Amino acid sequence: MGAPARSTGPKVDDLQEAFAADVLRGLTASPKRLPPKYFYDAAGSALFERITELPEYYLTRCELSILRERASEIGRLIPTGAALVEFGAGAATKARILLRAAPQLSCYAAVDICGEMIEREAVELRSDFPRLTIVPVTADITASFALPRDAAAAPARVGFFPGSTLGNFEPHEAAGFLRNAARILGMGALLVIGVDLIKPVEVLTAAYNDAAGVTAQFNLNLLKRINRELGGTFNLDGFEHHAFYNRERHRIEMHLASRRRQKVTIDGETIDFRAGETIHTENSYKYSVESLAALARGAGWSPVAAWTDAARYFCIGAFRFAAEGRTG
Ligand code: AVI
Repeated sequence: MGAPARSTGPKVDDLQEAFAADVLRGLTASPKRLPPKYFYDAAGSALFERITELPEYYLTRCELSILRERASEIGRLIPTGAALVEFGAGAATKARILLRAAPQLSCYAAVDICGEMIEREAVELRSDFPRLTIVPVTADITASFALPRDAAAAPARVGFFPGSTLGNFEPHEAAGFLRNAARILGMGALLVIGVDLIKPVEVLTAAYNDAAGVTAQFNLNLLKRINRELGGTFNLDGFEHHAFYNRERHRIEMHLASRRRQKVTIDGETIDFRAGETIHTENSYKYSVESLAALARGAGWSPVAAWTDAARYFCIGAFRFAAEGRTG
């Protein structure tokens, strides 16, 4: 089938300008912070792929095992002719499991900020699923975007947001994402979301402090990216990776801590660091089955099913959008 790729994504210059503005805003704030979405340049995405294979990082393995085990149950919830819309599709590994389990799907819209990657994946998907219309959509999933024609015209839409990416949003952002997804997918839509669950602290902290130091490299790569793309002068040896569980807020926090007093210049602006001062680079919120359901309900989504692995480390929830007037 092969519908043409849409090139409706933001322009490279605009993205660079937003990156520079976000970095300067975050590093001149108190406490200092950087948005986690900037982890994912080519090097950061490759490091994240390595993280998903680490023995300590159970999230990806648990989610894949739930998806494989429950694929036919999830498939039965999907109406004939529906379009699958994946938010932050990347390599579409998990979507392939659903596409195989639900041959009644008519269309797969892979939405991702990285257009190059999804267009590459689309070529393979078209040969593996020749009866399906595959449409890459280059868009920021945290903003409003228009669905491609085939997905909009399908009799129903199924949103798919795996990977516990919802956990990297602040609670108000997560609620905003769910409301936006309801608006985009429309009344009657199904939404399938994967989130990491609250569990013993040792398991959580090990997942973000792996022995091989890949998560530390992933965190520090953000400074490398600022140096390369914004002419920053970060000395990487001057910062170290910190990750710990914040029990009150149910989240893993990642920081980059300055090993000494130092100055860094970015885009002509000088930033002072005290010894031990940190840049807060990521929150990874952990949910319970109930807290995820409560969040979803608040955005108009009614819980349909929740599946976990045997250890209850990870949860895949299915929700239906059936409420009126809750998306504003
Ligand atoms: C993408 N996201 C769900 C990962 C997480 O676990 O929060 C990002 C990550 N950060 C450190 N390790 C993995």
